[in-house]
Amino acid sequence: MPSDLERACDLRALLHRYAHEYYVLDTPTVPDAEYDRLFAELQALEIAHPELATVDSPTQRVGGKPLPEFSEITHKVPMLSLNNAFEDEDIAAFDKRVREGLGVAEVVYDVGPKFDGLAISLTYADGVLTQAATRGDGATGEDVTQNVRTIRAIPLRLSGTAVPALLEVRGEVLMLKKDFARLNEDQVTRGQKTFANPRNAAAGSLRQLDSRITATRRLTFFAYGVAQCDGVALPGEQSAIMDFLAAQGFPVCHERSRVAGAQGLLDYYRAIGEKRGTLPYDIDGVVYKVDSLAQQAELGFVSRAPRWAIAHKYPAQEELTTVEAIDIQVGRTGALTPVARLKPVFVGGVTVTNATLHNEDEVRRKDVRVGDTVIVRRAGDVIPEVVGVVLEKRPMRDVPGADLFSAAQEPVNPPFEMPKTCPVCGSHAVKGVDEAVTRCTGGLYCAAQRKQALWHFASRKALDIDGLGDKIIEQLVDIGLVKTPADIYLLNPEQLAGLERMGEKSAQNLLAGIAVSKNTTLPRFIYALGIRNVGEATARDLASHFGTPGIQKDEKVIAEEVAKYFAEFGELMSDLPADEAECKQVIARRLDLLTQVPDVGPVVAQSIVDFFAEAHNRDVVAALLAAGVYWPAIEVNAAREGPFTGKTFVLTGTLPTLGRDEAKAMIEAAGGKVAGSVSKKTSVVVAGEEAGSKLAKAQELGITIWTEEQLRAALA
Ligand code: IVH
Repeated sequence: MPSDLERACDLRALLHRYAHEYYVLDTPTVPDAEYDRLFAELQALEIAHPELATVDSPTQRVGGKPLPEFSEITHKVPMLSLNNAFEDEDIAAFDKRVREGLGVAEVVYDVGPKFDGLAISLTYADGVLTQAATRGDGATGEDVTQNVRTIRAIPLRLSGTAVPALLEVRGEVLMLKKDFARLNEDQVTRGQKTFANPRNAAAGSLRQLDSRITATRRLTFFAYGVAQCDGVALPGEQSAIMDFLAAQGFPVCHERSRVAGAQGLLDYYRAIGEKRGTLPYDIDGVVYKVDSLAQQAELGFVSRAPRWAIAHKYPAQEELTTVEAIDIQVGRTGALTPVARLKPVFVGGVTVTNATLHNEDEVRRKDVRVGDTVIVRRAGDVIPEVVGVVLEKRPMRDVPGADLFSAAQEPVNPPFEMPKTCPVCGSHAVKGVDEAVTRCTGGLYCAAQRKQALWHFASRKALDIDGLGDKIIEQLVDIGLVKTPADIYLLNPEQLAGLERMGEKSAQNLLAGIAVSKNTTLPRFIYALGIRNVGEATARDLASHFGTPGIQKDEKVIAEEVAKYFAEFGELMSDLPADEAECKQVIARRLDLLTQVPDVGPVVAQSIVDFFAEAHNRDVVAALLAAGVYWPAIEVNAAREGPFTGKTFVLTGTLPTLGRDEAKAMIEAAGGKVAGSVSKKTSVVVAGEEAGSKLAKAQELGITIWTEEQLRAALA
């Protein structure tokens, strides 16, 4: 039996290793439960024998007593800032200054992302974390040691072979985007204030006087430099120092690189810029540092920034602007979406004038009002959104007759209220129980919904009607020529001639486009109907599951026969029985029929049942077929006979040699099907590198998981 002291030491070493594997290397080797079990054992030992506890014990990561305030720490080596550059020319000029300063033809740089978190300085004495300080004004910062101990990515003890007597590491504390999203969700559930962005969340979490709160927030850390090091000789290049830090147990960023010359810098800037949206954390630029420390020393500093480094910033993804109005947009399925009309602002590389406010709950939660100054965010290709309101800038007015006991000022503008009726058609607007969305009940009576339904019907992935754009649809609906998609096929040249900006030639082209669109495919047809929750993939699944005999051109199809063409699907095409009990039964049977389709769950099935329960929707289907829309036959289940017949596969991650399409083709050729998401119906998940949530789900459901090699073996 080892003594308690030995056991405590062993446990600490094990937990230390597991945490490093999990938080720094991103490759856990034991299940979480095992970690928790060992952790509890160590905690029990330390409680029973307080003399065994050490400051670097993993149990110290849970936070301690709240502090009355942070104490001040003077930075022995000041925490400086970086000069910023935005344009390529600034970078060329920087490289030129550096080359001329050094008198060399080419300079090698260590390059890495500029993390959008907060700078921190970590001091290790004889290998143990003794102090952590914020940047503050660069000369003095705050002592946040207790809080920093709770950050699992930060080693409490160094792990290098040679441990310095003193090491001061600089780096950035940040919150991953996914942890930020989760924190905000939790804050909403708890009725607490949400954070505007990961940076604010990280700062708010790190500057908690109660470190037990910090311990509940998932913060992480990347090291980017060394300020002091005694007792161990450091390498002579910044890039090698980063390797040294990694060996001491610090997380260092995988996106780092070493490049030469201005072109190398600009290429790196572009490459990271393209990845920016998919990185797990926010960055606001990249940082270039002269790699050689000797060269750094030669160049020195000017005022508060080094001459040997520069930050090359990306266009800001967040800016401030004001809300000029809040309008309501009506979507294809009747969803009323509040949209903020903004004073134009340049953000994320484009000028933004509108931002979605999502739904009523969101506007209420953020309390966005007309006249407010708001933070607008546009990241990558994402639709611009209002992140939050700068309350201090809200327009206020004096309250007449206010005295000491009542508020002297009140907001000029009232809180936002969702209209009770649709702003386009005046139908009632209703919000479903447990639903965030308010919908116009007008259906195709509502011109806004009708226009969008038509636009969707004619769009490229649906019936792909050449020449039928927004403007024409708008006019056709406004003058009442087209009410349903089927009406499109009844248009004649005279009617089109009456439209604005419609010459004879374009009318002819449009009619030709309409005629051509009649020859379609069943998946496109189903998708074009615009059933809620039925996207392209589901439409394909439905088509190949139910299949239909091909509908032939010129074949006379009458409404009553539609059911026949829809085979089993046709079951949906009949009226629901009037008798309540019978009706329930029919609905249950339909839902059951639909949920047998791979990838169709109860929500999608319900949307389909609801859609076909409406007589006017069935009429449109019949009218389209009567107007001559047709498609070639689809083999039921489109499955070939083969070793994988009846099996559904899901592909995830990057396979070593096969591309996604290749793997899919191989599986389909063997009679199998490939679905997009993992469910109980999945037979096998083929997982490659960086497989994420699908793999986790498969493990959770106990589904067979194969590598590419196993897939190949099964087909050999
Ligand atoms: S190096 C002499 N590297 O940017 C200054 N800083 O403007 C050396 N930052 O306060 C800083 N990522 O918080 C460096 N990879 C990185 C960085 C980085 C983010 C922040 C840091 C600092 C600010 C300087």
